[in-house]
Amino acid sequence: MKPVTFNNTVLRDGHQSLAATRMSTAQMLPVAEILDRIGFSGLETWGGATIDSCLRYLGENPFDRLRALKKAAPVTPQIMLLRGQNIVQYASFPDDVVEAFIRADAAAGQDVFRIFDALNDTRNLETAIRVVRDCGKHARGEICYTTSPVHTIDSFVTLGVELEKMGCHSIGIKDMSGIMTPKVAHDLVRALKRKVGLPVILHTHDTAGLGAAAYLAAIDAGVDVVETSVAPFANGTAQPDTVRMLALLEGHPRRPDYDTDLLQEARIHLEEVYRQLSKFTSPANERVDSDILVFQVPGGMLSNFRNQLAEQGMADKFDDVVREIPVVREALGWIPLVTPTSQIVGTQAMMNVKFGRWKMICQPAQDIALGKYGRPPGPVHPEILAMVEKQTGKSPVTCRPADLLEPGLEAYRRQCAEKGLPSDDETVVLFAMFPQQVEALHKGVPVEEPKKPSTPTVAGAPRAASVSSAASKVTSRTEMSLLINGERHEVMVEKLQIGS
Ligand code: CO
Repeated sequence: MKPVTFNNTVLRDGHQSLAATRMSTAQMLPVAEILDRIGFSGLETWGGATIDSCLRYLGENPFDRLRALKKAAPVTPQIMLLRGQNIVQYASFPDDVVEAFIRADAAAGQDVFRIFDALNDTRNLETAIRVVRDCGKHARGEICYTTSPVHTIDSFVTLGVELEKMGCHSIGIKDMSGIMTPKVAHDLVRALKRKVGLPVILHTHDTAGLGAAAYLAAIDAGVDVVETSVAPFANGTAQPDTVRMLALLEGHPRRPDYDTDLLQEARIHLEEVYRQLSKFTSPANERVDSDILVFQVPGGMLSNFRNQLAEQGMADKFDDVVREIPVVREALGWIPLVTPTSQIVGTQAMMNVKFGRWKMICQPAQDIALGKYGRPPGPVHPEILAMVEKQTGKSPVTCRPADLLEPGLEAYRRQCAEKGLPSDDETVVLFAMFPQQVEALHKGVPVEEPKKPSTPTVAGAPRAASVSSAASKVTSRTEMSLLINGERHEVMVEKLQIGS
């Protein structure tokens, strides 16, 4: 029996999940060199929130980080997490920007692209998969795992078959909330291995303590690769620790053989880094918390929520808001909770509790109902859709959402030139997503550290007040303070009476 292999996530998901994505390149390089000698099947080092964090908090050029990591770890394939048409942001970008980003990234040395869409709408993955293939790189199509009446083993397998047809080289199962039980892991992997002729990778989080058991079940069912991290950037809301996973597989016919002395060397270095990042770590993320199984929401989302609600003076409403999450999810077609939908559902749940259910619908939630993010997995509640149509005067999008976007790359390039920034593709694609941060980086403006460390939180919510129509009148105004990517935004929320 072929041994299972491990990808290592410590340089991306490990510190994103446990230390607010704050590990710097300098802190990574010594450990990258050690990890490269262990012989993992992949190192996840880039994408997700790391680009944002490099620019916003660390004053680093993310492409320089990638080149440095490739130099330190030239042997093991390096993996990035790509949010499909959203690249590494919250909103959709035109095809030409997505394409330029992937080409620049491939040229800088990226080997594997883990490509996902928050709604599992494969139309949002088309461009990315095509360009990754064009660049001669590895396209790994991700299935975002969630539980709902419309998500079944069969529906996930259908998605896997579609990803194979679209040209993916491997299929990843992305359990971002760490809610996959061993039984589901076993059944899903077995079904995928039967129907799809591609390597299958399982990625989970140990948030609820299920991660390592789910991996073991998946390994028994024939999964090709599982993803582990290195303690102390492991376990809890991150991936299970590599040494722990190896111990769990002791005597198993598929146990891989990784050098535990080298792993220990990596751990010693990472212990020191963890101490240096103590401002950003939290015992709430380190412990196993079965809350997640009760609420079915990602762990990071719960901890962000506690902060946000406290800042809104709604700390006592935590249970109400969390209970409102499935209500919002169902109304919006049972969308999975992953960036950016987790932030949108969270904001809407908060608004339902604060103003009354569906009295105010934030713009990103309206956009989801209107299909602007893609096709939700289930039907949007007809009453909610009717309300949104009335409020916005718009009808649902039926085409691939990115078909509605004009090409944008050259306009971003002109803006870079106007601001006196370089206008090469690397700068332009970063500028498209993080204009102020890229400008600050090039002009040497010191990075701002938020008063309260936080992982990226609410997306797009400041536009919440943009609902207006001739038939509506403002009945009240409330000021709300929203935390967006660690930045505070004061917004005025108008409560509208629609029609009369
Ligand atoms: Co993850």
